[in-house]
Amino acid sequence: MQTIRTAPEAPDRAQLAADPHRPRYHFLPPANWLNDPNGMIDWDGTLHLFYQYNPNGPFHGTIHWGHASSTDLVHWRDHLVALTPTPGGPDAEGCWSGCAVNNNGTPTFVYTGVNPQTVCLAVSTDDLESWQKYPGNPVIAAPPPAIAAYSGHDFRDPYVWCEDGLWWMVIGARREGVGGLVLLYRSPNLTQWEFVRVLLAGNEQASPYFYEGAMWECPNLLDFGERRALIISVQDAQWRLQHAAYFTGRYDKGVFAPETGGVLVYGHAFYAPQATRLGDGRILLFGWLRETRPAAAAQAAGWSGCMSLPLIVTLQTDGKLRLTPAPELEALRQQCWSLSDLPLTPHSEHRLEITGAALEIEIEFEADQVDDYGLAVCCAPDGAEQTRIVIKPEQGELWVEHVGADPALALPMERAPLTLTPEQPVRLRIFVDSSVLEIFVDDGPCLITRIYPQRADSQGVRLFAAGAPVDVAHLSAWRLASIW
Ligand code: FRU
Repeated sequence: MQTIRTAPEAPDRAQLAADPHRPRYHFLPPANWLNDPNGMIDWDGTLHLFYQYNPNGPFHGTIHWGHASSTDLVHWRDHLVALTPTPGGPDAEGCWSGCAVNNNGTPTFVYTGVNPQTVCLAVSTDDLESWQKYPGNPVIAAPPPAIAAYSGHDFRDPYVWCEDGLWWMVIGARREGVGGLVLLYRSPNLTQWEFVRVLLAGNEQASPYFYEGAMWECPNLLDFGERRALIISVQDAQWRLQHAAYFTGRYDKGVFAPETGGVLVYGHAFYAPQATRLGDGRILLFGWLRETRPAAAAQAAGWSGCMSLPLIVTLQTDGKLRLTPAPELEALRQQCWSLSDLPLTPHSEHRLEITGAALEIEIEFEADQVDDYGLAVCCAPDGAEQTRIVIKPEQGELWVEHVGADPALALPMERAPLTLTPEQPVRLRIFVDSSVLEIFVDDGPCLITRIYPQRADSQGVRLFAAGAPVDVAHLSAWRLASIW
């Protein structure tokens, strides 16, 4: 067994703390590059979160596994880097995504070695601090020949669980020119794997629930009892990251029959989520929030990427997945503002006293509105810069629009579908954290995006109504504490 504690100590967090775009209560490494969450595991009541990490700069390259842990899902302790590429080894060009399992008391990573893309193992014997790679790596050198013939070398991101005395694995692949694949394997011991079948095949041309793209990355199979959810992250034929999406349906003895599906999170920032079951039974999920600003801006900042909020995944009776911020986040609430029964007249804007770069806002609008209305965050005092969260009853959509943003940032306009019934009030929960905006619609979708306000005083909040009157039934807002 080879010990791989070679990575440098993490840089000091204080160095980048003054950056106004750096999130204060979303997890991110002390500096440099982060992408996918990996190896999430609740170990004796402590949640360990590993992540795709480049210690050499804020760009994707020389991928290691960073490591942090938390006892409350909110505050984090940095650990030494857990996995470093081994020169000459199957992961010489990177330790790509994978998961962690408890193998009879031994914490074990099942991860992707590159290049070529293979399945590798590593274990820890000191409570997840340091990791030794399995000398027999890779444990799967390639997909079965018939699939390898058309998979274009894409074979990555194992996700493993134990069931009926066997280890089971889903892993992402593709059929070139057709669509993504999730392959199913099984093993008695984590080292010898047998290919079972293609669990699900996508079709770039004909997609019933969401755009299925060309390659499926980071599959997760979540057990909700009667039903299971297969989460995937969709890449298109030009390697552009599209969205995280899911299917739900019945799963029986290695056969999955999707009944419905959808986009997991709307917006361009969220990708490659991973979920794990906590000791208390809840299913917890983090996704990677990538930068939507140009790479040069991230290079200048010295960091790139952060995690989403800790999100709890539940399955609704209609087969849709729902994400809710973990209630533990309420521990961050500080100064509070609230109001009720505020009428907004047509074509009006109402400036609120709320200000801050780290905020949580809960708002309820009365049902049955006929024209656009909403709430703007990160507003400059003169309104010249602001991010508008707009409810569009006619389109049945929620939009996020940027006013006065630097055109060089090319911030995307984001939209999510909203099913509005006349009786149902619209309740939103909004989290602003410097350059992160997360919006959760009660009983509806969530939308996550990145914003990069250019003015230090763009910290205000406003309500607005377009052509018709709107009543705000209730609003509560909190300034949130930093987690560092
Ligand atoms: C998803 C992904 C994975 C891969 C990893 C590499 O964002 O492309 O498929 O394992 O990132 O960093």
